[in-house]
Parts: sequence; C-alpha cells; structure tokens
Amino acid sequence: MQSQSQRKGIIIAGGLGKRLLPSTYSTNKHLFLLYDKPMIYYPLTTLMLGGIRDILIVTLKSSIESYNNLLGDGSKWGINIQYSIQKEPKGIADAILLGEDFVGKSNIVIILGDNIFHGNNLYDLWKFADSFNKGSTIFAYQVSDPERYGIVDIDTNGYALTIDEKPKIPKSNFAITGLYFYDNSVFNRIRKLNYSSRNELEVTSLNNSYIKDNLLKVNLIGRGMAWFDTGTFDSFLDASLYIRTIQLRQGLMIGCPEEVACRQGWIDKNQVVNLADTMRYSRYGEYLYKMFESNK
Ligand code: G1P
Repeated sequence: MQSQSQRKGIIIAGGLGKRLLPSTYSTNKHLFLLYDKPMIYYPLTTLMLGGIRDILIVTLKSSIESYNNLLGDGSKWGINIQYSIQKEPKGIADAILLGEDFVGKSNIVIILGDNIFHGNNLYDLWKFADSFNKGSTIFAYQVSDPERYGIVDIDTNGYALTIDEKPKIPKSNFAITGLYFYDNSVFNRIRKLNYSSRNELEVTSLNNSYIKDNLLKVNLIGRGMAWFDTGTFDSFLDASLYIRTIQLRQGLMIGCPEEVACRQGWIDKNQVVNLADTMRYSRYGEYLYKMFESNK
C-alpha cells in the first residue's frame, strides 16, 4: 500500500500489563516477542502502511531505554520516532494528551500498542478514515466475546449511537478496535473529561464526546480481516499462532518495518541489506536478504 499521510501517529504503549503478570514486572508488554518480532512492530507497521512517518510512542519511564535500543529515532526506517513518558498509567486519553506538542495542528491516528491488524482491506479502511478532516473515525470488528471490549451501537448512517466499555449486557457484538482517527479538537475534548472510577481518562469517554456532537463515524472491519488485542495470555498466543501460520504459508512477513519502509520508498535496498547484516543469524535477518531475490 503506497500512501503518504498528513496525520501524525501516536502508539500507546504504557500501562502495567496487569493481565500478563508476572512477565510484565520486568518488561513492557509491547516489547514481548509476538512470534518472531517485538509486539510493537505490528502497530508500528500499521501506521507506516498508512503513510505515517511522524510517530510518538507514549510509554512508562522504565521502558524508554529499551524502546530506544530497539527503535531508536526511526531514521533507520526513514521515519521519525519520538517518545513521551506517561508518569502513571492514567488511561489512553491521558496518554494522547501527552502528544499535544508533538502533534501541533495536525490530525492524528492513535493505535494501541497491543493491537494487531492484518488483511487486504486495511488500505481501504485507512483511505476512508483519512478522507475526513473533521470528527473521528473508529473501527469495529465482530467478536464472540463482547464483554471484553468497548462495544458500539451504530445508526443506519454509520455513526455511533452509544459505546459501552466492557458491558455485562452488550448491545451488539461490534468491538471497538484500538485504531482511532481524531481531528485536532481531540486535545480540548480530553481536557474536559473527568477521571473514571478507576482514576483514568478513558478513551471511551473521549469517543462519547464525539458521539455527543454526532461526529463519531464507525467503519466496520469485514470478516476477511484479522484483528487481535493481545492483552491476555490466550489472545497473545492466538495472535502469535496466526502470524506464524500466515507467514509460514506465504513466506511473507507481517509487521516487518524494514520491508514496509522499503516498499514505501523511504529507504533503499542498500539500507535494508545493511540492517540485515546486523541480524544475519536470525531468520528475520535472512528474510531481509531474501526480500530482493524474488517477486515478493
Ligand atoms: C481498550 C479500550 C476498549 C477497546 C480495546 C481494544 O481496552 O478501552 O474500548 O475495545 O482497547 O483493544 P483494553 O484492552 O485496554 O482493556
């Protein structure tokens, strides 16, 4: 998918990962190995596929050094990565607010660091959302376990009527995925939110503020796409096995920043080969060498 976007991207990679303890005592969950690469590579490449080159990663102070070691400033992939520290895990909307200076007057795309998207339709979904300058577009995916997610009820014109966070009695089976397109009013809206009972600024409250103004469009992700939220042991394993299955079948990688950057024309073959040299003993490195050998 070839595209350049005027939007800036924010990856939300804070949180304590309580549902994955004890492993998250020592490591930010978005750095865990999801099959053959760090989890953060997947949301990062989703943004890159959408043409986003300016990306802010919001995480906790204890993880900054690890992110720097892994991703640096993004220049190796022809992108600009910056970091912001969320002092305490005060919610997704609180994390977005930390990006205000970075974003300036642009519109933004937010992606949660534990969300994995895969499939051909991503490009169309992205184009649709990117075409609106005002309001917000979110994406919903049909799930069998709606009580685990934010659940949206949609009107006949594709606008959200209500969103309930982890409802006991869900109004639909449409879960809100962790990919949100917002206009620049997002920061003022967050400032007006109240902290929830768990002392967080909730993304659902933010989305409800757009609903109040009838400005929250919902795009349904079709059944041919895959979406995972890897916040639990089982969903983590499910996503890992999915990635493994597709990759082994096709011989193509999902979530490979070097490949996406090269296909977008942000880095050239020599740069990819130089990066491959540093990883020559892993299958990941081998893949980078082989990228140029066939008509992939
Ligand atoms: C968050 C959001 C929820 C959304 C989910 C998608 O939940 O609050 O609305 O459906 O991400 O991944 P969390 O996974 O942080 O509990």
